[in-house]
Amino acid sequence: MGKLMCVLLLLLSNLFVITASCAANGEASAIGDPGMRRDGLRVAFEAWNFCNGVGQEAPAMGSPRAADCFHLSSKPKHSNTRKHKHKPHHTDTNSLVHKVTKADNKLGVGKPFPGLSPKALNNPDLYAVEKELYLGSLCQVSDTPEPWQFWMLMLKNGNYDSKSGLCPRNGKKVLPFNSSNNFPCFGNGCMNQPILYHQHTTLHKNGTLRGSFSGTYEFNSSTAQNSSYYEVVWEKQIATGSWVFSHKLRTSKNYPWLMLYLRADATKGYSGGYPYDTRGMLKTLPESPNFKVRLSLDIKQGGGPKSQFYLIDIGSCWKNNGAPCDGDLLTDVTRYSEMIINPETPAWCSPTSIRNCPPFHITPNNTKIHRNDTINFPYGAYHYYCAPGNAQHLQEPYSSCDPYSNPQAQELVQLLPHPVWAEYGYPTKQGEGWVGDGRTWELDVGGLSSRLYFYQDPGTTPARRIWTSLDVGTEIFVTDKAELAEWTLSNFDVILT
Ligand SMILES: *[C@@H]1O[C@H](CO)[C@@H](O)[C@H](O)[C@H]1NC(C)=O
Ligand SMILES: *[C@@H]1O[C@H](CO)[C@@H](O)[C@H](O)[C@H]1NC(C)=O
Ligand SMILES: *[C@@H]1O[C@H](CO)[C@@H](O)[C@H](O)[C@H]1NC(C)=O
Ligand SMILES: *[C@@H]1O[C@H](CO)[C@@H](O)[C@H](O)[C@H]1NC(C)=O
Ligand SMILES: *[C@@H]1O[C@H](CO)[C@@H](O)[C@H](O)[C@H]1NC(C)=O
Ligand SMILES: *[C@@H]1O[C@H](CO)[C@@H](O)[C@H](O)[C@H]1NC(C)=O
Repeated sequence: MGKLMCVLLLLLSNLFVITASCAANGEASAIGDPGMRRDGLRVAFEAWNFCNGVGQEAPAMGSPRAADCFHLSSKPKHSNTRKHKHKPHHTDTNSLVHKVTKADNKLGVGKPFPGLSPKALNNPDLYAVEKELYLGSLCQVSDTPEPWQFWMLMLKNGNYDSKSGLCPRNGKKVLPFNSSNNFPCFGNGCMNQPILYHQHTTLHKNGTLRGSFSGTYEFNSSTAQNSSYYEVVWEKQIATGSWVFSHKLRTSKNYPWLMLYLRADATKGYSGGYPYDTRGMLKTLPESPNFKVRLSLDIKQGGGPKSQFYLIDIGSCWKNNGAPCDGDLLTDVTRYSEMIINPETPAWCSPTSIRNCPPFHITPNNTKIHRNDTINFPYGAYHYYCAPGNAQHLQEPYSSCDPYSNPQAQELVQLLPHPVWAEYGYPTKQGEGWVGDGRTWELDVGGLSSRLYFYQDPGTTPARRIWTSLDVGTEIFVTDKAELAEWTLSNFDVILT
């Protein structure tokens, strides 16, 4: 039925009706652009320092938020000759009308824009938050039940200078200190924001739409050859198929820990790891167990043994008593679960290191297997579990999550391919979905995440597991040499079941 409708609409209607109807296909999508098929792309960029803030803007780059959003305008050839602020690009009958200018993308502290609050004008962290809202207002698309704004490309620098005083500890402000931990940092300025180059999307004569964001963290360095590098190119044939997002991420000696993800975030409220009002793509917030994620992933280069490639990372926030987060950084807890598909990633959870395992595993028939049950517990299914730093009633022994790398305490449940995940359509063997095994996945993310252990205070009502960020990409975690990861992502959809 869905397929037939598409064909009829293709013959009878304009572009927008085709894309909307084909994508619907009888299924309800939680996102604004089901399957990444909408020609009028909405995509944004955000860069985070170690604790998901800005700290200081990179010279001449403005605040590290940018967007590329446009609609296609069908006009007879040669009709549009008057000068226009957003210069249209022509093919036969279509032109792109950009909604975000170069000047919008360059906005940085000290420069006002509509809606900017006085307290944010000279504060790089608050400025970035409000710039995201402003870019969202330029990109917003009306829809039901909610308008939506953009896909988000997120880049994060894992360097941490404990002498900078920039990052709170489990949400609590701390003074600069000399760290005994081995956080990577080459010295003063190691937490910098990157250079950002932007190629606005253009429409080529052959019907290819293409644009990109790219850049480096080494803005002082002349040794470009071995510099850190990131790039996301988006490309689509007009009126057909999915956008294909091609990603590259390279670490360097000075920037050995980098992350690059494509995220579907909440359109308002908090998104994973971010205690501020956000903009995004999730016009309906998916809740466990009632959603699936479909996507095509093709990894060309893995990024070395430390590349924790996430065949989906899901993020949310709730308190240890199960209540939703409210922005109180001392009691809010970011919760993440992520499947790491790099076959070189070992299980840190094992019968002899149960501190790295969640207290129990829950089977599809809801049987709990305790981690001390060495015969039945699937140790190989868990890379690492760590508990929130502010939890009061943890089962010994436990490992606490890094207290500095989020604005508030965090909890991580990191999974590995294993037969216990077969029920949910996730990889069951090391190597599945890895380099040379590009696939389209239909993951029962809702079902799986309903049966993961997350910490809660005894006797409290279980949290509703509502997810505010779903993302795919890699975290190259402290490499001893430059490593390159390269992958494409397309057909991303979040299906409500
Ligand atoms: C860190 O150590 C250096 C040298 O040992 C010392 O000079 C400096 O005051 C210390 N800084 C802090 C914030 O403790
Ligand atoms: C770049 O150079 C300037 C001036 O020498 C220095 O203050 C800054 O810390 C450097 N930044 C980085 C990221 O190396
Ligand atoms: C379309 O043209 C552009 C620009 O010349 C080129 O880079 C691209 O590869 C072409 N795409 C296809 C599908 O031929
Ligand atoms: C880049 O790194 C390679 C080895 O990793 C080294 O041989 C080369 O000299 C470096 N180039 C520069 C310009 O630093
Ligand atoms: C639940 O599944 C496990 C294996 O996953 C099996 O051993 C057990 O018998 C099942 N329990 C019930 C009640 O079906
Ligand atoms: C396993 O842990 C549970 C919960 O802490 C405990 O009740 C049980 O006695 C333990 N079993 C073994 C064999 O240690």
